[in-house]
Amino acid sequence: MKKHMQFILNGHEVTAEADTRQSLLSLLREEFELTGAKEGCGEGECGACTVIVDGLAVNSCIMPALEASGCRVETVEGLAGPDGSLHPLQQAFVDFGAVQCGFCTPGMVMSAKALLDEDAAPDEETIRTAIEGNLCRCTGYKQIVDAIKTAAEKMP
Ligand code: FES
Ligand code: FES
Repeated sequence: MKKHMQFILNGHEVTAEADTRQSLLSLLREEFELTGAKEGCGEGECGACTVIVDGLAVNSCIMPALEASGCRVETVEGLAGPDGSLHPLQQAFVDFGAVQCGFCTPGMVMSAKALLDEDAAPDEETIRTAIEGNLCRCTGYKQIVDAIKTAAEKMP
C-alpha cells in the first residue's frame, strides 16, 4: 500500500508516494533518481547506502521510506556547490586517493559529513569511530581518515 509523504530533500521540499515496505534507499534511487547512495549488503552492515536524516548518518537500506516523512534528508548529490564545485570533503577524498572503486565513497562521505557537522575538529579515533559502519574493500582506510582530517581543517 502506498502512502503520501513529504520531506526536505537536499534543501528542497518534496512529496512522494511510498510503499509501506519500501526503503528510503529505494525511494531515493528509484523515485528521485539519486543513485549516489548504493545498495551493498541491503542489511545495514556495509554503509554503502548511508545518507543523513535530521543530522544523523543512517543506513537507508533498512530505514522505511515513510519514516523520513517530515525529515530533512541529505544525500551525496546535495554536497556540491551550485556551480558544481566539490564540497571540501569530496575534494579531499579526490586529493588523498581515498576513492578507488568508489562504491563505498558516497556513504563514506555522508558519514564523514554527519561527523563534521557535529564536531568540526575530530581526532583520528573519533573519525575512525564515525566511519566504522562503512566498509571499504579497496583503500585500507588510511587515505579516507587523512582526507576527513584535512577536510575538517579546511572547512570554515
Ligand atoms: S546497503 Fe545499506 S548497509 Fe549495506
Ligand atoms: S573505494 Fe572501493 S570499496 Fe571503498
